[in-house]
Amino acid sequence: MTNRLFLAATAAATLLAVGGSLGAAAPAVPVGTKGTAGVGDPLLPLSGDGGLHVRHYALTLKYQPKARRLDGTAVLSATATQDLSGFDLDLSGLDVHQVTVDGMPVSYDRSGQKLEVGLGHPVSSGTDFEVAVDYGGTPHPLTDADGSSDGWTALPGSQGAFVAGEPQGAMTWFPCNGHPVDKSTYDITVTVPQGYTAVSNGVLRTQHTAAGRSTFSWHETAPMAAYLATASVGRFDVRQYWSGRLPVYTAVDPAEKADADDVLDQLPAVIKWEQSLFGPYPFDAAGAIVMHDKDIGYALETQTRPVYDEAPDMDTLVHETAHQWFGDSVTVTRWQDIWLNEGFATYAEWMWDAAHGGAAPHDRLAQLYAKPATDELWSYPPGHPADLAHLFGVPSYARGAMTLQELREAVGDQAFFGILKQWAATHKYGHGTTAEFEALAARVSGKNLDPLFATWLYSTGKPTKM
Ligand code: ARG
Ligand code: ZN
Repeated sequence: MTNRLFLAATAAATLLAVGGSLGAAAPAVPVGTKGTAGVGDPLLPLSGDGGLHVRHYALTLKYQPKARRLDGTAVLSATATQDLSGFDLDLSGLDVHQVTVDGMPVSYDRSGQKLEVGLGHPVSSGTDFEVAVDYGGTPHPLTDADGSSDGWTALPGSQGAFVAGEPQGAMTWFPCNGHPVDKSTYDITVTVPQGYTAVSNGVLRTQHTAAGRSTFSWHETAPMAAYLATASVGRFDVRQYWSGRLPVYTAVDPAEKADADDVLDQLPAVIKWEQSLFGPYPFDAAGAIVMHDKDIGYALETQTRPVYDEAPDMDTLVHETAHQWFGDSVTVTRWQDIWLNEGFATYAEWMWDAAHGGAAPHDRLAQLYAKPATDELWSYPPGHPADLAHLFGVPSYARGAMTLQELREAVGDQAFFGILKQWAATHKYGHGTTAEFEALAARVSGKNLDPLFATWLYSTGKPTKM
């Protein structure tokens, strides 16, 4: 699998640099047996640890919106992917009270965004072990290079919290192997004061209220990247219903209800329409979390249940729903491939608009292409965002979508939709790289598409039309 190749390559490159870096409290660490410090992503080099795979997270959390305090335990069921005498988890802020491995307290240290854990005795590659971290404090979101923030974000007053972690905010609320190369199943249980609702990914297994507190237990059965986890808290208006065999759960801040309801009513129709284009909806639950905030400025495709900073419009609903296939089910192995998420979700908007009386994708392509060479649209090639500040820039979205329209015009509708469906099917619950997408497109269409991708994904500045 691609991610394994990626991990292996980066492990080899970084191992030399990391031996013996555990803190003073840790046992001596033989060089080469500690996990890698970061999986080696060029844009977020510290994110994750290539030495372990987390199969499952069980998070048991308590949040107090007024005090803005989060306390809990994270239990990670992990497998060593190399011989290990220790490993690093990502955790930003918060206090760690205890770490155990298979029930035994172990030494740990904090260093920047890393929680460095020493294994009492080394384990060999392939060994399963369970890590439990007791922690708590006031979570603080991260400020990203583009000025936006991500992570656990308390909303003004005691409204609750908007919880979205792309690209690396998951570590602001739970210790994790925080790079998307590692995907895991999740149980997320959150206790909040009565009157609040905590909404997470997947299916709501149980909910009960006693002694002025409500506890919500959520379960996500499909593999999920840490950045797609949420546990957003608010005084929501909740609706639950079935769309065929799919349970839908929507939670809406009452202040956004008037604007949100008509759009959210379209969610089943959007899922059905996207299924006709992309293949079966990949998950066993759906829904939405709609917050009421004027500062966050974006929505995130949190798995099964996107979180919106305010009532979405149709384009945004279509966009975040398309991400369930492109981003959530098929996940990037490195952040520079972000156009595989954003370009595809944007192209879904183009197709929705065209199917509902808007401009045809060909015309949108032409309109965008008419923009002057100085426009932000041409500020970097979407196949190669140079830095974090540009990850979510216009080219990742719009020029990414233009690339897909160019591809569609080059290969024809039948091949194009075959490529989209095969992409979603072949990489379901896994990962995909730009190189793999290019190869699939060439295989399905039988065409040499190298010049097209070189022009649209990799050339700097405004591409010269072929
Ligand atoms: N993936 C989100 C979208 O649907 C954008 C996330 C932006 N994240 C951030 N920290 N600004 O387009
Ligand atoms: Zn998006």
